Amino acid sequence: MKVWTIFGTRPEAIKMAPVARALAQDSSFDARIVVTGQHRQMLDQVLSSFELVVDDDLAIMRPGQDLTDVTTAVLTGLRDRFRVDRPDIVLVHGDTTSCLAATLAAFYASVPVGHVEAGLRTGDLRAPWPEEANRVLTDRLATLLFAPTPGSADALRAEGVPEQRIVVTGNTVIDALLWRVEANRRAPFEPAPFGAAASIVADNNRRIVLVTGHRRESFGQGFEDLCHGIRRVAETWPDVAVIYPVHLNPNVQEPVHRLLGGLPNVLLIPPLEYAPFVRLMERCTLILTDSGGIQEEAPSLGKPVLVMRDVTERPEGVAAGTVKLVGTSAERIFEEVDALLRHPSAMEAFRRTSNPYGDGRAAGRIVEALRAWKERT
Ligand code: UD1
Ligand code: UDP
Repeated sequence: MKVWTIFGTRPEAIKMAPVARALAQDSSFDARIVVTGQHRQMLDQVLSSFELVVDDDLAIMRPGQDLTDVTTAVLTGLRDRFRVDRPDIVLVHGDTTSCLAATLAAFYASVPVGHVEAGLRTGDLRAPWPEEANRVLTDRLATLLFAPTPGSADALRAEGVPEQRIVVTGNTVIDALLWRVEANRRAPFEPAPFGAAASIVADNNRRIVLVTGHRRESFGQGFEDLCHGIRRVAETWPDVAVIYPVHLNPNVQEPVHRLLGGLPNVLLIPPLEYAPFVRLMERCTLILTDSGGIQEEAPSLGKPVLVMRDVTERPEGVAAGTVKLVGTSAERIFEEVDALLRHPSAMEAFRRTSNPYGDGRAAGRIVEALRAWKERT
């Protein structure tokens, strides 16, 4: 069975790595990894972390690219590949523009699509933007829909997706995370990958607020607001270190460096490889983020996560109490972080022993579902 796993950004690579590895280890699959290269450095970091060997790279990333640039480059790049070779199915992941464009390219070439991480919804096409639309459209075109949770499977049923196309698998990010946590435990602590933050990460007495943020719908005023909130945290708590591995998108780099650069206890560092980033999540006191993947990883790590968004397509973590939505207003972000730093016992409420997003065996379920689908067709 010929399967192409197609992805292009950091989070897709982390979440597809367990699937690509499982397919590569199974001789009944002729598996290829095709990357769009929507991200470059941040994708390459993950490819090397997971030792993934890429078969084909569309290498589309351009500085400051817009959504049309990404969509058209992926569409034409994959059209050319499908003209010379056709897999039995392609696997795409999540909600990026690489995911939607690869799905559309496969649909135009009459190649079936399996969508990993299907069925997540906010119900608002503007948030997250454009990801909600990317996910809805991908699900509409997919043949197999791998829903991470029972809730995401229900969302697909509510949209009329036939039952036989839906498989509840758990989220593959938990496979990746548990593997990484275990590998980190076996390896000695290396300060060097943390760059300017190395001595702080090594000092177990120092409290750390870990920040990541990059959502398009927050660009402009929303992003300025959240930076002002983080600045006030840093100024109010000089003994607490704020470590922010800054996403390479210029729309993120510019306001973050302008508004947070130069503060002695704010460390703005380049994106981290997955191994040190997981160590930092385990080491930190709390996480302030707008990332989807981190909302899913955090329950396994028992860390409080404050999500700088108004809505989330991942309600399970909110319901379980492991994450809290705090929006992007400077005042609210400051108040929520300040309250946790002031009352460390409040962090206990975020700790859970089980993760609603998965048990670390999602990739195996996806591989079995592919095998069963092939036998049926
Ligand atoms: C993309 C996804 C988003 C996902 C995020 C994960 C879309 C529309 N957005 O957003 O859903 O959550 O990735 O991080 O698909 N850049 C680099 N090097 C890199 C990566 C990015 O320089 O390795 C810079 C480039 O200038 C690039 C810009 O960031 O043009 C934007 O990258 P893009 O993939 O279009 O958007 P993201 O904000 O990364
Ligand atoms: N991550 C990483 N290095 C970093 C920041 C994040 O490896 O410096 C990981 C994180 O653990 C998670 C994923 O990248 O698995 C999240 O990616 P991102 O925030 O770019 O995208 P999103 O999850 O919002 O789609």
